[in-house]
Amino acid sequence: MSNNSVEQFRSLFGNFPTGITVVGVTFDNEPRGITANSITSVSLDPMLLLVCIAKKASSHKVLKDVGLFSVNFLSENQKDASQFFASSSDEQKNLMGNFKYAIGQNGSPILSDTIGWTECKVVDWFPGGDHSIVIGEVTNFSLELESLKPLVYYQGKYSELS
Ligand SMILES: Cc1cc2nc3c(=O)[nH]c(=O)nc-3n(C[C@H](O)[C@H](O)[C@H](O)COP(=O)(O)O)c2cc1C
Repeated sequence: MSNNSVEQFRSLFGNFPTGITVVGVTFDNEPRGITANSITSVSLDPMLLLVCIAKKASSHKVLKDVGLFSVNFLSENQKDASQFFASSSDEQKNLMGNFKYAIGQNGSPILSDTIGWTECKVVDWFPGGDHSIVIGEVTNFSLELESLKPLVYYQGKYSELS
């Protein structure tokens, strides 16, 4: 039976498990991040990925201005980072909290203890309703602790691979 409400649409995608990333940007010398699970790889040659960013998120304007970002793929031990970066930067006193990070080649924050990360430059930007679809070309990446498992988001809750 079909039910075309927004709630049912959210529920449909809630039943589709994803990994979780933190998209990092440095604006005005201040590194910051936004939790995002709308990440997918797009192309291998060149290496492209996409992320959908809500127009109302403060990261939207920042990303548009800076044009450079990182994607930090969270491990199962990083639920706290996902929660922290899912709260609005406008309400965060310290934009990176107490999370350990380094600054990458393109100036974006690279979180420690993830399962991997990429650095990207924005090469395209498409409208997507209340989000924008941001295409990033991967300029640098690393597979970190390959023995770690990813953090998984499923039915609105954090989960791990068994
Ligand atoms: C698991 C999870 C995944 C999320 N994925 C996205 C996403 O893909 N795109 C997005 O714009 N917001 C996403 N969000 C919401 C943002 O993280 C949240 O709105 C954040 O407060 C925005 O911060 P900002 O306003 O400082 O940019 C997600 C939140 C959670 C908990």
